[in-house]
Amino acid sequence: MRLKRTHTCGELRVTNVGETVNLNGWVGSYRDHGGVTFIDLYDRWGITQIVFDPDHSHEAHKIAHTLRGQYVAAVRGEVKARPEGMANPNLETGEVDLYVTEFELLNSSKTPPFDILHAGSVHAETKLKYRYLDLRSPEMQQRLIFRSKAVHMIRNYFIDNEFVEIETPILGRATPEGARDYLVPSRVNQGKFYALPQSPQLYKQALMVSGFDRYFQIARCFRDEDLRAERQPEFTQVDIEMSFISSEDIITHLEKLFVKLMKELKGIDITSPMKRITYKEAMLRYGSDAPDLRFGFEITDISDVFQKTEFGVFKGALSRGGCIRAINLKGYSKQLSRKDLDELTPFVKPMRGKGVAWIRMNEDGPQSPIIKFFSDSEAENLYKKMDAETGDVIIFLADTEKIVSQCLAAIRSHFAKKFGLIRENDFAFAWVVDFPLFEADDEGNPTPTHHPFTAPKPEDMHLLDGSKEDLLNITSDAYDIVLNGSEIGGGSIRIHDHVVQEKIFSILGIGEEEAKEKFGFLLDALQYGAPPHGGLALGLDRVIMILLGTNAIRDVIAFPKTQKATCLMTDAPGTVDEKQLEELALELFVLDEDEEEEDEDDD
Ligand code: AMO
Ligand code: AMP
Repeated sequence: MRLKRTHTCGELRVTNVGETVNLNGWVGSYRDHGGVTFIDLYDRWGITQIVFDPDHSHEAHKIAHTLRGQYVAAVRGEVKARPEGMANPNLETGEVDLYVTEFELLNSSKTPPFDILHAGSVHAETKLKYRYLDLRSPEMQQRLIFRSKAVHMIRNYFIDNEFVEIETPILGRATPEGARDYLVPSRVNQGKFYALPQSPQLYKQALMVSGFDRYFQIARCFRDEDLRAERQPEFTQVDIEMSFISSEDIITHLEKLFVKLMKELKGIDITSPMKRITYKEAMLRYGSDAPDLRFGFEITDISDVFQKTEFGVFKGALSRGGCIRAINLKGYSKQLSRKDLDELTPFVKPMRGKGVAWIRMNEDGPQSPIIKFFSDSEAENLYKKMDAETGDVIIFLADTEKIVSQCLAAIRSHFAKKFGLIRENDFAFAWVVDFPLFEADDEGNPTPTHHPFTAPKPEDMHLLDGSKEDLLNITSDAYDIVLNGSEIGGGSIRIHDHVVQEKIFSILGIGEEEAKEKFGFLLDALQYGAPPHGGLALGLDRVIMILLGTNAIRDVIAFPKTQKATCLMTDAPGTVDEKQLEELALELFVLDEDEEEEDEDDD
């Protein structure tokens, strides 16, 4: 390469006028203005308009016509101020042009499968297949550069606060975070498998036993679970653990970190201490353990109003142990059509909601398909409880607590979006605390809400010896941090007493033998002077995604997977040779097509 760059494509300003400089980059757009050719040359740092003028260099100008989009070029030329009125205020280099005197073609390019600089409407699959081209767009580059800056700040924060960065194994044993494991067969130990870590949970606890006191890691985690917009099968956690602390210490560090990140990355001052809400309150008022606090439309339980109702739907729900809850879309009646309201029933169907009732508070009185079923006192108590006034719309659901919560949480978000209540750069952080230690699984048996290493609150410790109901009433020392309705992190104070840990395993139906086999090292470690400890993990990808205002986690990951956990660029996962299988002592058991379909139906 002859014309090695002296400046980047984002660097030249009026102060450089008169200088002779070299630029290297890709050819963006191309415009021919009667003899003079203008080309946008770009790189990671920006775009500079370069001018091929036959008066400057006849040779270079001839070459200009052979250039195409995404060719790689090196140019040498003179920086000139743009003529009066021709500056481009949208471009940092917009006040100057580079008049080319020498030119070197560094590489040509096939016509790209899509226009890299205007790829908005291009099919996502095409962009993923040619991810290296999609990542050449300024938008994608800015996202990954933002992510890099954030990681840098996070790392600095923890290092400055005496945390030690320690890497933990990728080839390990299963840690129960509630998802399926990715398994790796061992060649040397035939018939045995490593599990990729769902998180470094057990290693970081081991490091506390070792006395590191404060640990952090930007850790890769692997979970074979159903993918959604905010989940990837491999993702990154900012994982931390501390000794001799209470949950307040973890919360304080995280708040300080976010105050710094929000200020330095977004220029936004957020308030600390952040809002705190108990799990119970979050479920009741927002229908979710990751409440979106950017808007109101809080949920109210109105079961008590309808204790004696004759309305079949409500009566039925209450008699089955369910509840009736409602939200008031205050003042939005005029903005809602009958169709909007009728569409709510099909809207809640996928969440197993059977119907949605509503009352519109019109000027000439309340209007609703179900009001005829209410007694006068029921109607009156309802309006009072819901603070219903002219212009409001009350939306109700009657069902099990779980279904009502899920449906009303979705309805809250639906209307917030519809009424434009979600503004750009509005960031609502909150802590959700006092999670139950266990929740009931489909058979009603206790399973850990967070993970089995989470400590019960000391005052509830005695309930560990109680009935199933007692167990489900234990509050744990676990906390989640929530941002704009997404769980961006979760953690807990851990059990550091091996007797308690063994008791939890036995409650979970993990027998002594199994506990020894799977977690023997942890149970042992807890017996060699384990300090009280606790920690948290942030979902880094989710944090970056929300700060950047995108709603797809793959926008902030360089080489993400699709919904089906494949990589379209490399074609992973792929098949392997017969020989490799043999070495691993594995034999493939191929499902015939019918079975495969059945299997998919099961999902
Ligand atoms: P948890 O399982 O809550 O806790 O995970 C911590 C955070 O990681 C993010 N996250 C994900 N992000 C993208 N794709 C996924 N598939 C995915 N799964 C989880 C979430 C979540 O809040 N070991 C504990 C932490 C601890 O107790 O210290 C753990 O992993 O933002
Ligand atoms: P139905 O008895 O199914 O005709 O329903 C009568 C009214 O009650 C309709 O307006 C339904 O939308 C509403 N409704 C039905 N099921 C529910 C439910 N689970 N919660 C709230 N409203 C419901």
